[in-house]
Amino acid sequence: RRLSYVLGIETSCDDTGIAIVDTAGRVRANVLESQQEFHTRYGGIIPPRAQDLHRARIESAFERCLAEAQLEPEELTAIAVTTRPGLPLSLLVGLRFARHLARRLQKPLLPVHHMEAHALQVRMEHPEQIPFPFLCLLASGGHCQLVMVHGPGRLTLLGQTLDDAPGEAFDKIGRRLRLHILPEYRLWNGGRAIEHAAQLASDPQAYDFPLPLAQQRNCSFSFAGIKNNSFRAIRTRERLERTPPDGVISNYGDFCAGLLRAVSRHLMHRTQRAIEYCLLPQVQELFCDSPPTLVMSGGVANNDAIYANIAHLAAQYGWRSFRPSKRYCSDNGVMIAWHGVEQLLQDKEGSLRFDYDQIEIQ
Ligand code: KG4
Ligand code: ZN
Repeated sequence: RRLSYVLGIETSCDDTGIAIVDTAGRVRANVLESQQEFHTRYGGIIPPRAQDLHRARIESAFERCLAEAQLEPEELTAIAVTTRPGLPLSLLVGLRFARHLARRLQKPLLPVHHMEAHALQVRMEHPEQIPFPFLCLLASGGHCQLVMVHGPGRLTLLGQTLDDAPGEAFDKIGRRLRLHILPEYRLWNGGRAIEHAAQLASDPQAYDFPLPLAQQRNCSFSFAGIKNNSFRAIRTRERLERTPPDGVISNYGDFCAGLLRAVSRHLMHRTQRAIEYCLLPQVQELFCDSPPTLVMSGGVANNDAIYANIAHLAAQYGWRSFRPSKRYCSDNGVMIAWHGVEQLLQDKEGSLRFDYDQIEIQ
């Protein structure tokens, strides 16, 4: 079978990602432009500003992507683009660019659900090893979900967060702690900074947070309680230490270790519910002969401590576990292109879409 090339375009949040992946799952080019530096200055993402930055960079990112892959635009087989969920202003930049390109080249346009792309990404790196269906824990800056993945466009939601996402909690708490004023963390997201700071703890048990939704036997998540308890604990410590308004509490490492443990325990507790659900005979049938598999993905899957706990939990049930390699856990164009490849490989009726204007963000 001849190799085809799919272009993936990701602009759902604050990263402009453009990549080319072939139908054998090889990454031909991967261009990623982060806006972190700009947004750090304002303490968060300002949507119109994010849109401007995507606009300013998307064309050149595309050019660089083609050059890296040593391909002509005509050699692309299809164009995949994130259409949801995300910041509408940001999504629009990617979709308009993709539409324009697809029309000019007369290639099919493949709409991609961002969270689905996170979920399917592991299959690119572990071909043969991860057949459908599998259980997936998606934890990012905007979402927290447990899903059964049956194929592109075929996910069953088992549970999701009732309030904040874990990455969002890390980002907000990191900001409140003022970790970004420490030079080594200046350009890091909250989750990454907290992971690193936790390793500096001298008394990892100094902070402890109650387990959210401890009594609920379902797959819902909640991170608002951990966030508010964190804000309170930081304020108490700041008063005690008389921390200056531009300072960081002295035992921030201990605090981060406690926070990480709380988030980790909650993610494990809910994932355990999902595994138990999959063990019900009628659900277990779905797995047929394939070995039961747990996948973790999304930006929070970068966290080694969290992933190690999740993998350990899976192993206790005799389940295998996977996560994408780190460069593909966070938002990127490769996962969008790969989702496009999955759509191409699955396409039996020739339902590839040329009705460019009917494809919208939502
Ligand atoms: O998937 P992603 O890149 O974007 C969204 O779709 O949201 O996830 C970004 C989130 C951020 O909130 C960030 O704090 C979190 O992933 N994150 C981490 C780590 N690296 C990124 N959280 C915990 N530990 C990390 N090492
Ligand atoms: Zn994401």
